[in-house]
Amino acid sequence: MQPSLGYRLDLSLFTELRNDESWSFRGLTQKDTNYLTHCYHRYPAKFIPQLARRVIEENTSIDDVVLDPFCGSGSAVLEGLLSGRVAYGSDINPLGYLITKAKTTPINPSVLEKSIEYLFSSLKYYRKASTDNLPKGIHSWFPERVIPELNTILRAINFDDNDVKTFFLCAFSQILKACSYWSMYSIKPYREPDKFAKTEPKPIEIFRRHVLKMQARNEELYNILLDIEGFNSRKSIEISDAKRLPIKDKTISLVATSPPYVTSYEYADIHQLTLMWLGNLFPSEQIRRIFIGSMSRKETRSELLSYMAHDVITNLSKNDEGLGRSVSAYFSDMQECFKEMLRVLEPSGRIAIVIGNTKLRGVEICNAQVFVEMFVNMGLSLKKVISREVPSKYLPSTRDPATGKFVSARSLNKILAYPHEYILVFET
Ligand SMILES: C[S@@+](CC[C@H](N)C(=O)[O-])C[C@H]1O[C@@H](n2cnc3c(N)ncnc32)[C@H](O)[C@@H]1O
Repeated sequence: MQPSLGYRLDLSLFTELRNDESWSFRGLTQKDTNYLTHCYHRYPAKFIPQLARRVIEENTSIDDVVLDPFCGSGSAVLEGLLSGRVAYGSDINPLGYLITKAKTTPINPSVLEKSIEYLFSSLKYYRKASTDNLPKGIHSWFPERVIPELNTILRAINFDDNDVKTFFLCAFSQILKACSYWSMYSIKPYREPDKFAKTEPKPIEIFRRHVLKMQARNEELYNILLDIEGFNSRKSIEISDAKRLPIKDKTISLVATSPPYVTSYEYADIHQLTLMWLGNLFPSEQIRRIFIGSMSRKETRSELLSYMAHDVITNLSKNDEGLGRSVSAYFSDMQECFKEMLRVLEPSGRIAIVIGNTKLRGVEICNAQVFVEMFVNMGLSLKKVISREVPSKYLPSTRDPATGKFVSARSLNKILAYPHEYILVFET
């Protein structure tokens, strides 16, 4: 017999829902979504900035405080700042922290200009830099000739000014994929041995091109944000587990976030090129176990406040016990994060979650329905559910119907993962 868990969702709420075309952002090009500093660095499952902006503007007023506790590359943080809100972002991933910092910290254009000149004049005299003490695993990912050149760039990024250093490290991290055997078509670590059969990459050239693009965007952002008084004190970016936010009081007007998906990305693998080169950014290998949604998480720490969660886990465990435990751990982790969001939410605050459902081993994983039951059982009310189609150009990848694992979007035998998703808005 199931325990009494309180509120049980009326499923017709979701089955009768139609997609809201105005939230599909179908007409946007890659150029539109990569505007301003959004182009600095790729990141898996990035927010469409225009979506983040609309969620923020519809649910807050100027000067309100917006938090994204799974901020990844900081799309919502930047959009919060651009729309005149105070914006906090945190993520467990130090690469997310680096990108978010770079994206939201415009540098005085003349300071940046001088730093760029200085950096590239030192790279002009590039001679083979030492390849001693290179990180393990590097030789299988990078052509031999490319390694010393990358090493030279990294050593040259030696600035006292932290903002300038962050800017260049972000550029460096972004070019690693193009300089490696990692397939440009794959988010996951898929090695393409013939990638450089015709020409080898020229890291300094690739780095220069990206830095110059970033320089132009920095100047645009600088000019926009100059008008916002005290701009730098209007943001806070931290490396933090969403289960223990570095916020003391109930100060958050809106939590706007898109959480990690269950068993989808192993972030520690996806970012391994950056991890190899900027290893000191990543505190320890332990981090893999803190990433929510990782297959290595198996522990369910408290009673799940959702009937739907119990049904999903029971059905899944019949087919695959290990996967059942991972999904249970995921729901348990998310429940802890939701409690933490409530702890920091101001009395009239709102929470907006962007999440999709998926199928694993033939079982529908109803994340959205589970999250609704959890939040309502924690005392919030559901203000709005929006169903949006995710146009295929925004789909990062697909799931293999047999294993449920994410596979390259180009592979055969695929089903679409997250062909639509939900925006759930809760209020206190
Ligand atoms: C869907 S992504 C967010 C992407 C983001 N909206 C953007 O625009 O780049 C989910 C994020 O959750 C983060 N994450 C996973 N486990 C976490 C945890 N325990 N605490 C905080 N962040 C975590 C991942 O590092 C990842 O950046």
